Amino acid sequence: MKLIFLGPPGAGKGTLATRGVEICKVPHISTGAIFRSAIATLSPLGYKVKAIIEEGKLVDDETTILLVKERLDQQDTQAGYILDGFPRTISQAEALAGFSAVDKVVNFDIPDAAVLERLSGRRVCRKCGMNFHITFNKPKQEQVCDACGGELFIREDDQEGAIRKRLEVYREQTLPLIEYYRNQGLLVDIDAQGLIDTVVANFKKALGIS
Ligand code: AP5
Ligand code: MG
Ligand code: ZN
Repeated sequence: MKLIFLGPPGAGKGTLATRGVEICKVPHISTGAIFRSAIATLSPLGYKVKAIIEEGKLVDDETTILLVKERLDQQDTQAGYILDGFPRTISQAEALAGFSAVDKVVNFDIPDAAVLERLSGRRVCRKCGMNFHITFNKPKQEQVCDACGGELFIREDDQEGAIRKRLEVYREQTLPLIEYYRNQGLLVDIDAQGLIDTVVANFKKALGIS
């Protein structure tokens, strides 16, 4: 199944994608995670996007589209994928339609207040990128990743100013994608509030997975 996860920052896209990988047996492709790993390894791409990401702005369409196109050219995506955080602009969606046909677009429905609560307590593994939350999704051992033992840190763009910017950018540039995909009959809304297991159940029900 070829899926797009569409939703505001902090909606739980990455968290549900981790579960979706097991459920759908497809790879999870997060443009944000690819950019963060480029920054961590000090690659040329990392240098190019570091300041943009830390301020909560969008990386340019050309760079992002090329990155996804190259990733979707790889064999492991032939049977399907979960695209998390791409497309984020109409131009990106139009470009994607030119190289891959998605089956469904999962739209995370969640109020701003819940998003702020989730982002303010998020901790991320420096090694594998897994998401935790100091209240809702605690690691077994404080500051340590359950999956790989890596150190947990606070993302640069989870500072208050960058969160505000990301929400503004989402409303201006990404929100129009909801109508864009609804008009194509591809959109599936899921209630993204509630416990992680509840959101997983909502996701499975919306896609008709038993
Ligand atoms: P990206 O990494 O995609 O960030 P984002 O869209 O802002 O989304 P987040 O990763 O912040 O949130 P999420 O929805 O994954 O939530 P999570 O599962 O972590 O992008 C980062 C940046 O990269 C962008 O700002 C931009 O600069 C650039 N970029 C990326 N893609 C781009 C593109 N296509 N074009 C241009 N630029 C691009 O959950 C959040 C927290 O809540 C966690 O702590 C989690 O543990 C907790 N949580 C999750 N689910 C639940 C639940 N059900 N109940 C309680 N807590 C929960
Ligand atoms: Mg994420
Ligand atoms: Zn880890």
